[in-house]
Amino acid sequence: MRTFVDGKIKPDCFAEERLLAFPPACGVMLIMLNRFHNYVVEQLAVINENGRFTKPPGTPNQKTAAWVKYDNDLFQTGRLVTCGLYINITLYDYLRTIVNLNRTNSTWTLDPRLQKGGHYDKDGTPRGVGNQVSAEFSLSYRWHSCIGEKDEKWTEDIYQELFGKRPHEVSLEELMIGLGKYDRELPKDPQKRPFAHLKRGMDGKFDDGDLARIMESGIEQVAGAFGAKNIPKSMRAIAILGIMQSRSWNLCTLNEYRHFFGMKKYSTFEEVNPDPYIAEQLKHLYEHPDYIELYPGLAIEAYKDPMVPGVGICPTYTISQVVLSDAVALVRGDRFYTLDWSPKSLTNWGFNEIAYDLNTNQGCVFYKLMLRTLPNHFTPNSIYAHCKFK
Ligand code: HEM
Repeated sequence: MRTFVDGKIKPDCFAEERLLAFPPACGVMLIMLNRFHNYVVEQLAVINENGRFTKPPGTPNQKTAAWVKYDNDLFQTGRLVTCGLYINITLYDYLRTIVNLNRTNSTWTLDPRLQKGGHYDKDGTPRGVGNQVSAEFSLSYRWHSCIGEKDEKWTEDIYQELFGKRPHEVSLEELMIGLGKYDRELPKDPQKRPFAHLKRGMDGKFDDGDLARIMESGIEQVAGAFGAKNIPKSMRAIAILGIMQSRSWNLCTLNEYRHFFGMKKYSTFEEVNPDPYIAEQLKHLYEHPDYIELYPGLAIEAYKDPMVPGVGICPTYTISQVVLSDAVALVRGDRFYTLDWSPKSLTNWGFNEIAYDLNTNQGCVFYKLMLRTLPNHFTPNSIYAHCKFK
């Protein structure tokens, strides 16, 4: 990804191969972050705050230690700023959506950076000391029931391209072999990989209009609802693989997980899901609620009713508890985004560029990414830029 010149990364690409097979709006968001990074390092170099990014003598291709440092200083600072914007999107745009604050004017947040000073929050929770994501968490975020209609169709088309068949006709073995082949044949250089059937221009970039259209279509799409019967058929093999993987990891059961988070253990199947059909299926499979495995358990539990404020995306019960417990843990554990979160690290310009303002969209900042990286396709007051998660 890195060009090793002027702190820049290769234009309009991203490192993660798996996301190429995902609905294209995911890739467009990464491309927007890529563009934002390159914009940030250009500005940092031009502003050269306190002489932090002074060009060494000679030219970059000389690769002297001074030029290597120049590139690296710009790259690392640009990364802090861009990831800082991403963190603000998570703590404001995303969190407000989950708990339906978007439908209110409240500015309540869970931002762990608001308590300044010291390594500990008021309740003694440490900050900036790292974080370890548990294996169980990988299952808690597999929200495949939320895949919208267009994205389901996209997934079916990918199967058609890769296997010449519809998803449910592809066996597990064929899937594993096909994905392995796809992975091996992908060019190592992220910029040479195909993306969403788009063509690059002479400057190596995609057409802004194409990216904007994909983004608009993703925003217009209504997400699928959580729920026992809502996982798209196209995800069947992927769900089976997930269940097998979680068994091989010896993960805890649904009730053990709930107990860990201080929630009541289920004592009847009807408590897990009052739908008689679902409860009956569970009974046949597991005999007692204590034996319900984590993967299926998280997927088939009853989901919450919407509440303003309180419940936005209406997840299933256990997911809603664990996601809120986690939502800010990664930020709280990250020293760059807690103890070191200051203009000294990000520069004054960088710090302000990504700052949230509670008087604008109650702190939401995703619009900064869209307006900066696709400036000719969204007006400053565009509903797509300002309300994309609603
Ligand atoms: C059409 C859309 C999607 C496709 C094609 C897709 C596909 C996949 C695949 C192939 C896996 C790997 C399964 C395995 O390794 O056993 C996976 C895992 C996962 N998916 Fe999805 N997914 C989609 C949407 C989503 C959404 C909307 C979310 C959450 C908001 C999500 C969260 C996850 C998570 C957390 C994992 C586990 C990752 C890990 O632990 O490595 N996915 N998905």
